[in-house]
Amino acid sequence: MTQRDNEQLDRVRDVFDDWAVRGRAEGMAKSHTPFVRPAFELLELAPDARYLDIGCGDGYTVRWATQAAPQGRAVGIDLSAEMIALARRMSADLDDVEFHQCAFPEHPLPHAGFDTILSMEVFYYLPDMGAALEETLRLLAPGGRFTCMVDFYGENEASHSWPEDVGVEMTLLDSAGWRGALEDAGFDVADQRRMLVPADEASEPWKATEGSLLTLGRRPE
Ligand SMILES: C[S@@+](CC[C@H](N)C(=O)[O-])C[C@H]1O[C@@H](n2cnc3c(N)ncnc32)[C@H](O)[C@@H]1O
Repeated sequence: MTQRDNEQLDRVRDVFDDWAVRGRAEGMAKSHTPFVRPAFELLELAPDARYLDIGCGDGYTVRWATQAAPQGRAVGIDLSAEMIALARRMSADLDDVEFHQCAFPEHPLPHAGFDTILSMEVFYYLPDMGAALEETLRLLAPGGRFTCMVDFYGENEASHSWPEDVGVEMTLLDSAGWRGALEDAGFDVADQRRMLVPADEASEPWKATEGSLLTLGRRPE
């Protein structure tokens, strides 16, 4: 890890600690849910599925996973200690969820230990995205799936100002770039699609026209 990578991690951690403390995390989860809930349902988790959310924020998809896979394992990891504290508070009535603070691709989890991994709006923050995608592949059991979702991507021009708006570097890839990045890490790309919000429900026009880019990778058997 270079000094520049560490500085990027520190900046991202500061931004999301601040968002968690100032009550912006729940709003973020609410605004992501119209994209993520249908994507989560497409996964049709088995009742014993082992599920991981990388960059889980307030942990909303991890809580969904405990409902969808009551005999499984539901884990969320996040760089921000404040996000993890919030996720734990919001999950206090559940005894079968796990949250860990770590700077992915560092983590305390077993290789080949998950059937399904989801990540919403995270991977473009990672200083070495290629290494992080390779580690994601190693976390999956053979045949396991990774749903990688981003709103910041080449075709979504409305998102291009976000690095300046948020004050952190972000890796901008278009849909072909995301497909290629997953393939370079060893995934078979099984699907790629845009998740759209109906125009009359979209709080910003791009949510109905460009939407959230979903790339579904599968670890080869
Ligand atoms: C835009 S938020 C998305 C949160 C959540 N996925 C959602 O849909 O609301 C990005 C999240 O990724 C986390 N994150 C960024 N870099 C990370 C890293 N290297 N390891 C783990 N989490 C990271 C941030 O702390 C933040 O909570």
